[in-house]
Amino acid sequence: MTPILSRILLVSSDPAWRQQTLAGFSQVLMRYDNPFGLTFSSEASAQQALHAIEQDGDIQAVLVDDSLSSSQGKNAATLLQTLANYRPELSLYVLLEQEDSPHVAHFAELGISGYFYRAEQDYAGWFRILQAEIADKAATPFFDQLKRYVALAKDAWHTPGHSGGDSLRSSPWVGDFFDFAGEQVLRADLSVSVPMLDSLLHPEGVIAEAQARAARAFGAKQTYFATNGTSTSNKVIFQTLLSPGDILLLDRNCHKSVHHGVILSGAMPVYLDSSVNRRYGVFGPVPKHRILQAMTDYPQAKVLILTSCTYDGLRYDLKPIIAAAHEKGIKVLVDEAWYGHARFHPALRPTALECGADYATQSTHKVLSAFSQASMIHVNDPDFDPHVFRENFNMHASTSPQYSLIASLDVARKQAVMEGYKLLHRTLHLAAELREQINATGVFRVLSLEELLPEEVSADGILLDPCKLTLDISDSGFSADELQEVLFERFNIQIEKSTFNTVTLLLTLGTTRSKVSRLHDAIVRLAKEKRLPRPPLRLPEIPHFSRLLCLPRDAFYQRGERVPLCDENGAPNPALVGQIACDQIVPYPPGIPVLVPGQEITADIIAYLIRLKKAQKHIEVHGLDQTIGEECLRILRQKAPNQAAI
Ligand SMILES: Cc1ncc(COP(=O)(O)O)c(C=O)c1O
Repeated sequence: MTPILSRILLVSSDPAWRQQTLAGFSQVLMRYDNPFGLTFSSEASAQQALHAIEQDGDIQAVLVDDSLSSSQGKNAATLLQTLANYRPELSLYVLLEQEDSPHVAHFAELGISGYFYRAEQDYAGWFRILQAEIADKAATPFFDQLKRYVALAKDAWHTPGHSGGDSLRSSPWVGDFFDFAGEQVLRADLSVSVPMLDSLLHPEGVIAEAQARAARAFGAKQTYFATNGTSTSNKVIFQTLLSPGDILLLDRNCHKSVHHGVILSGAMPVYLDSSVNRRYGVFGPVPKHRILQAMTDYPQAKVLILTSCTYDGLRYDLKPIIAAAHEKGIKVLVDEAWYGHARFHPALRPTALECGADYATQSTHKVLSAFSQASMIHVNDPDFDPHVFRENFNMHASTSPQYSLIASLDVARKQAVMEGYKLLHRTLHLAAELREQINATGVFRVLSLEELLPEEVSADGILLDPCKLTLDISDSGFSADELQEVLFERFNIQIEKSTFNTVTLLLTLGTTRSKVSRLHDAIVRLAKEKRLPRPPLRLPEIPHFSRLLCLPRDAFYQRGERVPLCDENGAPNPALVGQIACDQIVPYPPGIPVLVPGQEITADIIAYLIRLKKAQKHIEVHGLDQTIGEECLRILRQKAPNQAAI
């Protein structure tokens, strides 16, 4: 394992003092154990310090001399403020020069970790404090306890039935699973019967502590760990905030868990049409004017939910939207499933919480290092009701959560705090490099923000997460399906997703230079094949949202009737027109529901579904019923056609 390195940076414009302090710390290093690899260096000015911190992701703490001044007029307070904004996870200390420093009260507002009085020259004491702080930030209370428990080697007279892998270990039939999964994963698969491991459904011990650390790291008042993905996290928030009949403003393009949350909560959704980039089949954010208008039209709305960033990396300018929502008393949930890493690099911030969101849900597993399904719910709502939340959380959570998932959330938080900046810095660098390499082929092209952005939102201050690269493949001669297949079969590369003329690559903390080189090599070779460009594929345009004729919940919970999509001639079945959909119908890709429960089925929508299935043979259309052999929609017959839409 690479040894741990924790750089401590002293910033002072006094050269003699810097030299003396560095010498003092080197004496201490000879006498003390140093498990976190503390090393000390110094800079003479705020400018140099900022440069060092930007470049060196191993800097864990900065000690700023309060008498610091510079030609640029940056004093200690300004530097500390800049650092607190730049990398909130850094530990900041003030070195006080005067006995009764007038600055302490001011510094207190900056969330300073501590103070050292220069004249005391207590290098050993300062070292111990710095080391303790790093140890504290690096602690993983749940993971540590899990390891401790496994090491105790207790006999299990409780679930799970494999009993630490003992039912598998020497089986001639399934022993290979023991070897494949690994002994520790099986030994750590424990149950709520072990009190030392706390309870996810009523956390008071190590899980509560791990969650509190995550809240501090991500800038939330409270954080909850979820072990069934952001899919569940979204539903929990919906049920917490919405009562049947409450109005909710949502992006039609949001994840299907949000639409499921609408059904479960019984809320009345007001769908906001997302912008669409038709050239690339990419759905963008909802135009800002449409969101603001919806808030004016529905001032009684309880909640606004937005997805930021989207699957393709497009993120809203959230601050003004959230401020406008709060003015009307509307709570804001931001689905940050794809953006859990943002807090740990200034190029990716502000996060939704930093923009004032009341709730943010994040798939910690998507870009950070948690196991699949591990998600976090962050709460900053001043009116948060923890009891109602808990009841709803427990309704969705398994009473047998997977403890390795909880441990992985604890570890992902630690990693983000201790080396997130450094790793993201590398990832962003690799992304920029890969972008250039791909563009240099002249055949494949990484789309810029301007190219990805639908025209409608070009002035909305939308930004792009550079960790998501969307490649235009229209000139390559490959279809998206062919390209995915050739990358997989010939080059051992699996990509994230595609549209009819793009493929999207996701860079994460785990993206290495070797992987970048292999992808680069594959793209160069494929570009050299110089295939003839294919005629552009024109996909049918997604139809506009028709009327909602009843609450999604009311339609969904009916048994309904199955009616075939096509008539006997393969044409759109007229018997469906004007009826009410009971299910959510989602072609994937693009993953946007064309029907939600309660929505009126129109001739356009049926024709769209049929055309789409003809244009893309392998397309999945979620929500179609095939139990009777042909594809049907589950519908509710409209009792009084043309009754007023809601
Ligand atoms: C925008 C969005 N929200 C929520 C989810 C669900 O996240 P999870 O896979 O963690 O359940 C996804 C999954 O892809 C998503 O794209």
